[in-house]
Amino acid sequence: MNKIQRNVLLNPGPATTSDEVKYAQVVPDICPREKEFGDLMEYISLELTKIVGDETKYTTILFGGSGTAVVESAISSVVPHNKKILIVNNGSYGKRICDIANAYDMDYIEFKSSATQPINLSNLEDTIKKDNNISHLAVTHNETTTGLLNNLDDLGKIAKKYDIELIVDAMSSYSAIPINMEKQNISYLMASSNKNIQGMAGVAFVIANKKNIEKLKDIKPRNFYLNLLAQYENFIKEHQMRFTPPVQTLYALKQAIIETKKEGVQNRYERYSKSWDTLVKGLNSLNLKYLVADEFHSKIITSIYIPENMDFDDMHDYFYDKGFTIYPGKVEDFNTFRIANIGDIDFRDMELFLELLGKYLK
Ligand SMILES: Cc1ncc(COP(=O)(O)O)c(C=O)c1O
Repeated sequence: MNKIQRNVLLNPGPATTSDEVKYAQVVPDICPREKEFGDLMEYISLELTKIVGDETKYTTILFGGSGTAVVESAISSVVPHNKKILIVNNGSYGKRICDIANAYDMDYIEFKSSATQPINLSNLEDTIKKDNNISHLAVTHNETTTGLLNNLDDLGKIAKKYDIELIVDAMSSYSAIPINMEKQNISYLMASSNKNIQGMAGVAFVIANKKNIEKLKDIKPRNFYLNLLAQYENFIKEHQMRFTPPVQTLYALKQAIIETKKEGVQNRYERYSKSWDTLVKGLNSLNLKYLVADEFHSKIITSIYIPENMDFDDMHDYFYDKGFTIYPGKVEDFNTFRIANIGDIDFRDMELFLELLGKYLK
């Protein structure tokens, strides 16, 4: 196996992958309607479920598409027409959930919250108490805009107290930060193949409590391709996605799952955390400030203020030439860039990055 040029992706996914994951895509041509391919998807669905829940109670519904496809699938499929969804917006991805609800003309309440501070839970509860028609609460786990980590234990308790279903966009936390859907009272959780699971882009999925899926039968579909119940029922019956799946991405995902199981999610988070500690230590010594305080931080992606007189594009090109990809900021009002520490990289890559950053700033 020839080694493939290794780029250190410090963008928040698609992340750097192992050569084994890249090569897993090179397989004989196969019609995805063959049983052999159905078995591959069955394995993937089962193993993705096991990362966050008991496979007898939870199931993973696969789609071909990027992460937004499954956020849209869940949001548009699970809320009854006569009910409301409460959406926490404390960054671009919370806002995107609002945009999706808006596009489907759904009845939703936007709960705006600080981009850098924890959610005010008593205000959130007050909002729920004021409206007895709320059936769902949607939140982003790790706000990839900033690295602010929303506390799922707290949100799950509130959902339980008011008998509402919790929907979590875990795109940038799944398979890094340990999650337990049952303990944390999460009904639906969305993620994709190209972030912390360390696979290729092209597959996204909704992990759902099987009991909740049964309830979807009473909801008139708002869409066709992204309908969650239809995708689920077809998979149960045929062991197939309804429409052409991204064949090679699924082979890579199988390999990424094997590597994730070998490392373990807890160990992966420790590896990521060590990279993050290295990053933050380096930023401090270079006198660079970042947006979210350590105690609220996911340790997965960091939004860093760009020093005065520095230009992101120039910085980007400097690093890109040296094999490191950095990422622009996404928070209005603040001039920032972002560094993610996910994928098949470790603290040594971060040390090299910091060494280059030091030279660049000089
Ligand atoms: C939390 C979160 N939600 C949704 C998305 C959207 O995923 P995609 O760009 O794959 O559609 C992202 C992407 O970074 C994300 O971080």
